[in-house]
Amino acid sequence: MASRSDRSRTKTPPVGDRISSVLQESRSFTPATSFSARAHVSSAKALAALRRQADADPVAFWQERARELVWFRDWKRALVWKHPHAQWFVGGTTNASMNCLDRHLGGWRRTKAALIWEGEPGDVRTLTYQQLHAEVCKAANALLHLGVKAGDVVAIYMGMVPEAVIAMLACARIGATHNVIFGGFSSEAVRERINDSKAVVLITQDGAYRRGQTVELKTAADEAVRRCPTIRHQLVLRRTQQPVKMKRGRDHWWHELVDGASSINEPAQLPSEHPLFILYTSGSTGKPKGILHTTGGYLTQVAYTCKMVFDLRDDDVYFCTADVGWITGHSYIVYGPLLNGATVMIYEGTPNHPQPDRFWDIIERHAVSIFYTAPTAIRSFMKWGEAWPAKHDLSSLRLLGTVGEPINPEAWMWYHEVIGRGRCPIVDTWWQTETGAIMISPLPGASTTRPGTATVPLPGIQADVVRKDGTSCAANEGGLLVVKHPWPSMLRTIYGNDERYRAAYWSEFPKRRGHPGWYFTGDGARRDEHGNIWIIGRVDDVVNVSGHRLGTAEIESALVSHARVAEAAVVARPDEVKGNALVAFVTLKASATPTPALAEELRAHVAREIGPIAKPDEIRFTEMLPKTRSGKIMRRLLREIVTSGVATGDVTTLEDAGVLERLRAGEEE
Ligand code: WTA
Repeated sequence: MASRSDRSRTKTPPVGDRISSVLQESRSFTPATSFSARAHVSSAKALAALRRQADADPVAFWQERARELVWFRDWKRALVWKHPHAQWFVGGTTNASMNCLDRHLGGWRRTKAALIWEGEPGDVRTLTYQQLHAEVCKAANALLHLGVKAGDVVAIYMGMVPEAVIAMLACARIGATHNVIFGGFSSEAVRERINDSKAVVLITQDGAYRRGQTVELKTAADEAVRRCPTIRHQLVLRRTQQPVKMKRGRDHWWHELVDGASSINEPAQLPSEHPLFILYTSGSTGKPKGILHTTGGYLTQVAYTCKMVFDLRDDDVYFCTADVGWITGHSYIVYGPLLNGATVMIYEGTPNHPQPDRFWDIIERHAVSIFYTAPTAIRSFMKWGEAWPAKHDLSSLRLLGTVGEPINPEAWMWYHEVIGRGRCPIVDTWWQTETGAIMISPLPGASTTRPGTATVPLPGIQADVVRKDGTSCAANEGGLLVVKHPWPSMLRTIYGNDERYRAAYWSEFPKRRGHPGWYFTGDGARRDEHGNIWIIGRVDDVVNVSGHRLGTAEIESALVSHARVAEAAVVARPDEVKGNALVAFVTLKASATPTPALAEELRAHVAREIGPIAKPDEIRFTEMLPKTRSGKIMRRLLREIVTSGVATGDVTTLEDAGVLERLRAGEEE
């Protein structure tokens, strides 16, 4: 099934305006005939036909996909495109929760497991579609009881518990817009996301289990809402039983309010463009962006891609290791699989608790057939060693997936051989919080895959690698990844900030005479001679650390909020496991002295301000940062210093060339 040949590879990160990529990888894998025979799309020919159909009329193609959802009322216009704002399936009404739940209740899926959940301590709960439906209806009624109305925003700050899924679907059911905030964020980050979205209710839990410890979510929530004037109520799930403060009139226990509520709730009939959720993600400025997704288009593309890319079938047990706090959790733990009536495996804790074989143990015990994780996780598994997966029967697996960052060919091969035991196709899926759903990916029964590339855009998606002047790049020439035609699950705007939406995504290739205007992804990429797209990495100040997207500006502003810090610049250097590690160059105020203790304090400060995931790996104190004459910090030079130890790039605009010398010297100390 596999053809191989020698390869050589080195990788250069984007440097300044020039994007260089000399990665070469020539091993390729075609799907086994036994896999293809049963797949939804079972040959390269079938895929090509689908693509031709989609290319001929993408809107008609997506309309056909939208008809696979249940609509209360049909749409009048499939796409209304007023650059850069898209509306899909205008005039149609539907409901996400109804599509994920109610429509499966009419037949045998009523008693099928929707969620199989395993807590970190080892407790297991299974919810059938009927049971999940009942829980969602109860939670929806509880939210209505708290005065939540369609169009209100509800913040959800929870760990990986079934109630997080229930809360999301309950919001969707009544037309409230959910704003899920990753449970690893600090109270500061929670407050910012609640205030920006003007959430009226916060759903949280006493504590969450993580790595054998408990994380105090309720305490952090209380700290956050002290300065959140829009929050009227908190709904609190009891999970760890740890003591928490409940404020009378404001705070309500889930088990009192939800468990006592009626399990009958009619889903609201909502316009296709009704806001389904806001999800904050890092951009290149200090303030996170509230990415707004709406209903009909999002569901259409998420349902279709989940079915096709994961080749979902009714007998699959599908396990995605993401957290619901990220887009992968939204689209491929909650909406995508449930829209397809799948059985979703959810695990609460960390992969190395109590031992580094927890995932393999889960796969074996629950007979997981599809496993979707991030390259950074795979690199950790590699580090922990093959003995851990070797202890388990992984024969239930039939398909593997990755997302979140470029996968290095070594990790791909390891995943293929050690986890997939050479049998399972790997789908490397490229997409973003903004795209809502998978955009570039193989289809496992049809595509030839190569370690390190997400291959080509899915049918219905028009992505290209272009030069700054908009012309398409030649084969293997590095360029910018753009999307040329609106797609159903695209973000609609940045919540409350159309201007920033336009500037962030539509200004690189703006609409003008003779040019329709394209969406710029922020990624650098190249297309090889087979047409496969290889992602090189972000070309903006967004970095990917352990599969988490972080804005360096956000971390810088957290550092500068410390009383002793005058200025800070954060850059990434390659890291074997995390993909990138963060190095913070910090200039202190005159009264402060650089000490290792202060470096530790600054790292802890960032953890408090944003969350432990944003902690710099290294703090380098410096008397001055390299700047342009106009005062802009030259992060490019700092990047070069941390990656190669020397800065060779253009320094003609540097304000004080001596700064570089001192920074380099500092490194050698
Ligand atoms: C990167 C995650 C290479 C990319 C769903 C993108 C990838 C950013 C891949 C979005 C992939 C995601 N190969 N790079 N398969 N998938 N990325 O918003 O840089 O957390 O722009 O969405 O992750 O990260 P986000």
